[in-house]
Amino acid sequence: MKIAIIGTGNLGLSIAKGLIVNNTYTDLYLTKRNLDDIKDYEEYKSVFITSDNVKAIKNADILIFAVQPSQLESILQKIKPHLNDKHVVISTITGFPISRIEAQIGSDVPIIRAMPNTAISVGKSMTCLCHNTIGLKKLPIAEAIFNGLGTSLTIEESLMQAATVLCASGIAFWMRLIRATTQGGVQMGFDADIALQMSMHTAMGAASLLIQAGSHPEEEIDKVTTPRGCTITGLNEMEHQGLSSSLIKGLNASFDKINEIAKH
Ligand SMILES: NC(=O)c1ccc[n+]([C@@H]2O[C@H](COP(=O)([O-])OP(=O)(O)OC[C@H]3O[C@@H](n4cnc5c(N)ncnc54)[C@H](OP(=O)(O)O)[C@@H]3O)[C@@H](O)[C@H]2O)c1
Repeated sequence: MKIAIIGTGNLGLSIAKGLIVNNTYTDLYLTKRNLDDIKDYEEYKSVFITSDNVKAIKNADILIFAVQPSQLESILQKIKPHLNDKHVVISTITGFPISRIEAQIGSDVPIIRAMPNTAISVGKSMTCLCHNTIGLKKLPIAEAIFNGLGTSLTIEESLMQAATVLCASGIAFWMRLIRATTQGGVQMGFDADIALQMSMHTAMGAASLLIQAGSHPEEEIDKVTTPRGCTITGLNEMEHQGLSSSLIKGLNASFDKINEIAKH
């Protein structure tokens, strides 16, 4: 795969690192206007850095856009005359619908929207994908790229805002849960760094049980709740205080907000 990353900032660089580690490219072009931050990447085999987006696009088939939303339209206008039927456009731009990309480059170009989260920097992103009609055939390319950087799921574009709340904002929600359980650990007698390790590895273990065993959360809860025991006592107290309810309300408040922002 000949890949160009247009806009090699935080996200673009995380994707580039994943592609390099997984060896998922034949040639990799990295673009940004100021090349100082990415100079070192030229040392990797078949990685080229340039501030010339057109040059990168002419030399690549898969074009991954990772610029800020306000920068995308002008870049698309400039590269449009150089697009041909070998190209696949992958946009990571949050809140930028496929229709707006098609308005710039047409609906005859395969377009895939990808919505990763910040865990992409450690190869653990939950990335949601959607595509235009012609983009369906090229979906395996995006899946290969993002499955190498975590896990990907293809969803309807109309659910992309909801996925942003659950997966991208979701990182912040899970961080707060890990911090809260750490604080509880400190109150029970552990030093903060030890409590944090216990908390984050327990969270990872819980998620891994579901991912690897394919079980339901309640099934796993049943396994650790003895009648009249400490786990069910703590869990029920958390629920009396509104644990599940506050999480669901928080998600819905975020969803209302993202929909309100999208109207402007
Ligand atoms: N960070 C995440 O985890 C995440 C997750 C999901 C989606 N996103 C989306 O990904 C996009 C990028 O986010 P980010 O956090 O990576 O932003 P960022 O760090 O600001 O990266 C944007 C990059 O684009 C480059 N750029 C600007 N104009 C350019 C041009 N004309 N040609 C080529 N490169 C250009 C900038 O470098 P120069 O100024 O040197 O050109 C900068 O390095 C955003 O639209 C965001 O919504 C990010």
